[in-house]
Amino acid sequence: MPNNITIVGIQWGDEGKGKITDLLAGDAAAVIRYQGGANAGHTVVVEGRRIVLHQIPSGILNPESLCVIGPAVVIDPETLIQEAESLRVHDIAVTPERLAISRSAHVVLPFHKRLDALREASRGAAKIGTTGRGIGPAYEDLFARTGIRMMDFCEPDRLVTALRRVLPERNLLITHLGGEPFDAEQMTEATIEQGRALAPYLRDVGAAVHDVLSSGRRVLFESAQGTLLDVLHGTYPFVTSSLTTAPAAFPLLGVGVPEHRRVLGVVKAYTTRVGAGPFPTEDPGSIGQRLRDVGGEYGATTGRPRRCGFLYLPALRYAIRVNGVTGLAVTKLDVLSGLAEMPVCHAYRFGGDVVNTIHPEHFEDPALTPLYETWEGWSEDLSAARSLTDLPAAARTFLDRLSAALEVPVVLVSTGSGREATIFAQDPWA
Ligand code: IMP
Ligand code: MG
Repeated sequence: MPNNITIVGIQWGDEGKGKITDLLAGDAAAVIRYQGGANAGHTVVVEGRRIVLHQIPSGILNPESLCVIGPAVVIDPETLIQEAESLRVHDIAVTPERLAISRSAHVVLPFHKRLDALREASRGAAKIGTTGRGIGPAYEDLFARTGIRMMDFCEPDRLVTALRRVLPERNLLITHLGGEPFDAEQMTEATIEQGRALAPYLRDVGAAVHDVLSSGRRVLFESAQGTLLDVLHGTYPFVTSSLTTAPAAFPLLGVGVPEHRRVLGVVKAYTTRVGAGPFPTEDPGSIGQRLRDVGGEYGATTGRPRRCGFLYLPALRYAIRVNGVTGLAVTKLDVLSGLAEMPVCHAYRFGGDVVNTIHPEHFEDPALTPLYETWEGWSEDLSAARSLTDLPAAARTFLDRLSAALEVPVVLVSTGSGREATIFAQDPWA
């Protein structure tokens, strides 16, 4: 039996991964974030309390699981400390026993955020619509081998040396784009306390993850963003700067690929996207507006209204292939209640061809025409459903059609934000 599940978004993020991770964390010895940074916003609702996590894994609400932040996460120390504080307000312990941070994870510093903002401003109409959290510039430094790791950040001597290496070049760009430059000594001084606060959390997390996995205990790998935002496999250049897919978890953490694994593809019952970039099934009309209102589709990190539209099966088929998805977690099914029917894009026309699975080279092409089917809706409220048989026939048909079209079984269905509003169609660990 597999002892690990990777939870991955198979759209453009905001599929509801946080709730699914929190739900399964009760069975897991460790919950691991392996990419992205404070651009993520994972909303978890427990006993009516709405908690938004950005960098700390959504397993933190389960007191039994070790939460791990891997080396390929870019950490914003200042907001990480604030996030831990805001959890303590809810009586959730964030201690070195509960949270392990990779020594090799890179940090996001104020100059990354300023660069992110200046770059976006300079792009004009071609802007990506980033979250402004400095993610792109931090990953640039990582790959340029000028980055600053947690082990440098927590050691003032190393930090000032690292800053003297990276800042001259970064300042050149910042001033070129009209911004104020940064000073290495001042920045070191200003972050000494942050380094002190985070130092006790640093660990060799690759070894820790390996130990949990090889002992047979259960592990959840929690991805952030979504497959179509992956820097290689997404709708480039309108993507984030990390590898967001499920298989990336293993090389990014420094553990071998386990022989048996499960990949839970989280799919919202409709589609949303925040930020710029192609979205062929976007509905600027009344259904899109209704989905935004009923689904509360506003960014958990930036508060921006999300663009809303219809299910896009060709993109889901692609994401399932890219990730090796073994089961689906369908979220926000309740939001569709009250729609008499809904368009679902099952394929698209490109030139003379009908295409079932997206090709990245078509992403931005205006010649791509979505082809729709009409799926029957339902009016019943789904929030009390606890098994598939509690669902109205049309909602069951919706799930059956989705599973048949994607050739992947539905494992979980979420019909509300709380833990209890969940249907387990199958055992996710089986
Ligand atoms: P960045 O990751 O801040 O550089 O933003 C790049 C793109 O990814 C923008 O379109 C963002 O809106 C989008 N993005 C980044 N993180 C998330 C997320 O957690 N959910 C949804 N979209 C995201
Ligand atoms: Mg989110």
